[in-house]
Amino acid sequence: MKPIKIAPSMMCADFLALGEQIRTMEAKGIDALHIDIMDGHYVPNFTLGPDFCRRLCDATNIPLDIHLMIERPDEYIPIFAAFGTPALYIHPETSYHPLRSLALIKSSGARPGIAVDPGMSLENILPLLPHVELACVMTVNPGYAGQKLIPQTIDKISTLSGIIEKEGLDIEIEVDGNVSWRNIPCMIDAGARILVAGSSSLFEKGKPLAANIERLYALIGRG
Ligand code: DX5
Ligand code: ZN
Repeated sequence: MKPIKIAPSMMCADFLALGEQIRTMEAKGIDALHIDIMDGHYVPNFTLGPDFCRRLCDATNIPLDIHLMIERPDEYIPIFAAFGTPALYIHPETSYHPLRSLALIKSSGARPGIAVDPGMSLENILPLLPHVELACVMTVNPGYAGQKLIPQTIDKISTLSGIIEKEGLDIEIEVDGNVSWRNIPCMIDAGARILVAGSSSLFEKGKPLAANIERLYALIGRG
């Protein structure tokens, strides 16, 4: 079984204590930093941008896991690919030619990934699977933290996991959205191996980050 990785959703971080939180994540061995990039068009919200990624890249060696929720991604892939060797996810419906966009991610030195909107069927992404290292199954509608899990997306994770195994592909499944203490076990059972942990777990209000990291590690059986 592929190891389970934790990618804190940085849009949910405490921006007034960001340096301290990054130090804590480094000390606890966090695997990647999930960065949601939103353009107000593909999703009705704005969050983080290239300058934030650049500052993070300068401040820590934790790799970036960059989720592009933007239209015309090809224009911006080279910019975001420049921040270390990030994972770079596109939503295929935002590109006229998603295979070309995935090839651009790879040729730009980043790790190609696709993000699957809850309303997008897996059939649509089958032709893309041989061209990605990562597949992010969105378990909420993209755009906002604090939403509730869309239940049928759990079956989507297990169906995708079965396809990957049957086709002998080497793809890590990421899950993004309401990755809560309650939902994590069934997400892992379904095949998720990278958990985008936001306001539903790691950045749960009123609890110290270090304690939430320890709680999450205990939940996933990480020593
Ligand atoms: C949705 C965002 C959120 C965020 C996690 O576009 O990507 O899923 O990362 O936040 P919670 O844990 O509140 O869903
Ligand atoms: Zn995301």
